[in-house]
Amino acid sequence: MSTINTVVAFIYLVAAIGFVVGLHLMNSPATARKGSPISMWAMVAAVGVTLAKIAYDQTITGIGWAMLAAGVAVGGFAGLRMARRVKMTAIPQLVSLFNAVGGGAAALIAIADFVRLTGSSTSSISTTAIVASAIDVIIGPVTFTGSLIAAGKLQGWITGEPVILPGTRLITGALAIVGLGGASYLFAGNASMPVLMTICGAALVFGVTMVMPIGGADMPVVIALLNSFTGIAVAIAGFVINNAGLIIAGAFVGASGGILTELMAIAMNRSILNILIGGFGTGDAKVAAAVAAGGDIRRLGAEDAAIQMAYASKVIIVPGYGLAAAQAQHEARQLADVLEANGVEVLFAIHPVAGRMPGHMNVLLAEANVPYTALKEMDEANPEFPTADVALVVGANDVTNPAARRPGNPISGMPILDVDKAKSIIVIKRSMGHGYAGIDNELYTDPKTGMFFADAKQGLAEIVAGVKSLVGA
Ligand code: TAP
Repeated sequence: MSTINTVVAFIYLVAAIGFVVGLHLMNSPATARKGSPISMWAMVAAVGVTLAKIAYDQTITGIGWAMLAAGVAVGGFAGLRMARRVKMTAIPQLVSLFNAVGGGAAALIAIADFVRLTGSSTSSISTTAIVASAIDVIIGPVTFTGSLIAAGKLQGWITGEPVILPGTRLITGALAIVGLGGASYLFAGNASMPVLMTICGAALVFGVTMVMPIGGADMPVVIALLNSFTGIAVAIAGFVINNAGLIIAGAFVGASGGILTELMAIAMNRSILNILIGGFGTGDAKVAAAVAAGGDIRRLGAEDAAIQMAYASKVIIVPGYGLAAAQAQHEARQLADVLEANGVEVLFAIHPVAGRMPGHMNVLLAEANVPYTALKEMDEANPEFPTADVALVVGANDVTNPAARRPGNPISGMPILDVDKAKSIIVIKRSMGHGYAGIDNELYTDPKTGMFFADAKQGLAEIVAGVKSLVGA
């Protein structure tokens, strides 16, 4: 190995260590902010050394350099602008767009290398390169169009409802046959450009027909899965062009995306296959037209809620999707502050799939400066409920539904927060409307539960005002 290759390999190794350390630090909210710049600088080092190597080898022309610079300028500017402007609640869409460009880029690398090797009279294409290119033109385009559809669904540009057109399954099956058949032909050592492009076209359409029938609420899981696909496509592109940096970075994304998908599926007690071929979760439940009248539920006002909490010793706040939808994190923080100032112990219980994306609640509450020590993950929070005077559920539904402990319903077996074990329960939501799983919540008819029908932001603000007037703050 020449000195330059040794230096390049060493810097890739240092970058890989940076990725590992960065990812590891992101395990905890306390260290996550440190993890992000470490990973970023590791990536800068990997990209920098790759450019230096290209310059040293003089493998590209002046026009090539100009195109590289233009690509970096356009991509860098767009990425920076989007990342700065994006709202916390729109992060899944942004991640999905990044997945799309990652998958698309991997496919383009594979096609470009295929063109270079098959069109050259001096070099021949190896079977390994053909296999890698074929896999990349399947995974990359599927990720590209699938991620664009997922982003569109989350942004509301495409309906969040599952779109199942007549014959969709047949078309998807036919596309799979075209893709796999074409790939087998290439695997046999036939370096055919038309076949490669046919596979690519089939994969582009497959991405659309795969994601359109999946409901908007399942998109976070789909995005995590497509994120994993992007990583695999990029790692394979690394094999195609023989670049260790690309293989390492792709493998990290592929593995972490895969693990995240699996964790989300476990926390929802559903298989990935069940999510991909549809099940519950066909979109957010529509707000029930009218608040349920009377029945088995006990209604509560802001004042009653304030009294219960102001005179409690321990309150556990359970945030859910409704808190995010109402952007009520700052009011939740204010409530915790005013209660704590009055000697009440306040904890936040975080379910792993509360909200609509991984870490949704943690990110929102961190934005409102809730100290991470007050955030208790499900395993830590559940033993605390029996000693809590009040469990305040803010826009959370499925993750608190005791029906999960019984078989025979869509959330059976899903681990839940043991809210019903608290001495009393207050639920803030706008109506008796369902959550993501679309089923009634038995918690609401528990005699210990008081329902405060309000928008989460407004309801919490009213409770804060109520507590303040009680304690004279
Ligand atoms: P959900 O069960 O979806 O319930 C949210 C509740 O919030 C609804 O019942 C709704 O009731 C209420 N709500 C909506 N807007 C509100 C507002 N402005 N103010 C007050 N309340 C409002 O939420 P959850 O308990 O957080 O559970 C999450 C669900 O999403 C789980 O089923 C989970 O499996 C699924 N999911 C999560 C993820 C991740 S990674 N987090 C990914 C995919 C699926 P009203 O309409 O009556 O107000």
